[in-house]
Amino acid sequence: MAQTKDLLVLGIETSCDDTAAAVVRRRANGACQILSNEVWAQHDDHAAFGGVVPEIAARSHVERIDGTIERAVAKAGVSFADLDAVAATAGPGLVGGVMVGLTTAKAIALAHDLILVPVNHLEGHALSARMTEPAAFPYLLLLISGGHTQLILVSGVGKYQRLGTTIDDAAGECFDKTAKLLGLGAPGGPRVESAAVGGRPDRFDLPRPLLKHDGCDFSFSGMKTAVREAAQSLEHPTGQDVADLAASFQFAAARHLAQRTEKAMALMPDARQLVVAGGVAANCAVKKMLQQLCAAYSWELLAPPPKYCTDNGAMIAWAGAERLAESATEGMVMDRAEAMAMAPRARWPLADPDDGGRLGSGRKGPKA
Ligand code: KG4
Ligand code: ZN
Repeated sequence: MAQTKDLLVLGIETSCDDTAAAVVRRRANGACQILSNEVWAQHDDHAAFGGVVPEIAARSHVERIDGTIERAVAKAGVSFADLDAVAATAGPGLVGGVMVGLTTAKAIALAHDLILVPVNHLEGHALSARMTEPAAFPYLLLLISGGHTQLILVSGVGKYQRLGTTIDDAAGECFDKTAKLLGLGAPGGPRVESAAVGGRPDRFDLPRPLLKHDGCDFSFSGMKTAVREAAQSLEHPTGQDVADLAASFQFAAARHLAQRTEKAMALMPDARQLVVAGGVAANCAVKKMLQQLCAAYSWELLAPPPKYCTDNGAMIAWAGAERLAESATEGMVMDRAEAMAMAPRARWPLADPDDGGRLGSGRKGPKA
């Protein structure tokens, strides 16, 4: 049975260092309306530690989640009683943070008698482009975030096939490490992007990982080491040196992402759209390189606005709404008892060969 009425969904995201909530409407014709999108970035809470500290993140989520949700509902101009469902990230991510968002969602669902949709954070990123772009199934997804670097064939809601993943570090992690190494601070990705303005991308000759290897996997650890060695070779780095190294790294990272994506495109006769999602998708140099790649093969590049590429509540609400819209399909939405019993999952691959990417029961445990 197809969706016959509008769905109004509250989405909650707390899997890393952003406390986020949003209200999204999915129209019966599939159109998306983002009514509010509140994000409280925790960068300042973690700045002194040079990275995200899980305990601090969990505590910050506890302190901010109620206010963030209240603002999201108020700015949307709706009340809890108007909602059809509450969707929350149930993993993968830092369990302490996921627990805060998921438990809050359970409480809201109980108090207001709403459907609870536990959402895989990666599915949120995978479907996020459909909120603002004309992304039609099947499409190729390049998911590039702080924790993940994957190429996924998205054939429908819940239908994901992983074509490649990183064999070591994630792309965003490499941007963050480069920022730290160059003394640029956090958030790493945007700081590297700003520092690279006016820098020479061809000054440092950085590696081209896995160039001669078949398949669509990624590797960033060699590039990270090369950036460190290049930085150490500069005795008293000037502002221009830092700009050149940031630009050279950004170029090498974008080139690697495009080179592996090109391999995946060759495997996909039916798809002509490349969707890029995750925090690194906010990077203009990366988008430019992917744009050139798509132009060369007459593909279309779909890149959502940066605020929907980085972690946000709207993509979680939307993923919940997309599942609800398909709820006639078995396994698409958990029954209430199962959803209420769902535990946060530190690890939760999107494309699970055992269940075809369906939400699954959660019984396989976090290391599924
Ligand atoms: O998707 P996201 O917000 O959170 C995760 O699920 O990981 O991605 C965060 C990552 C961080 O590593 C951040 O440095 C990177 O995305 N990022 C960027 C940019 N904006 C965020 N990397 C490069 N350029 C950017 N403009
Ligand atoms: Zn994310």
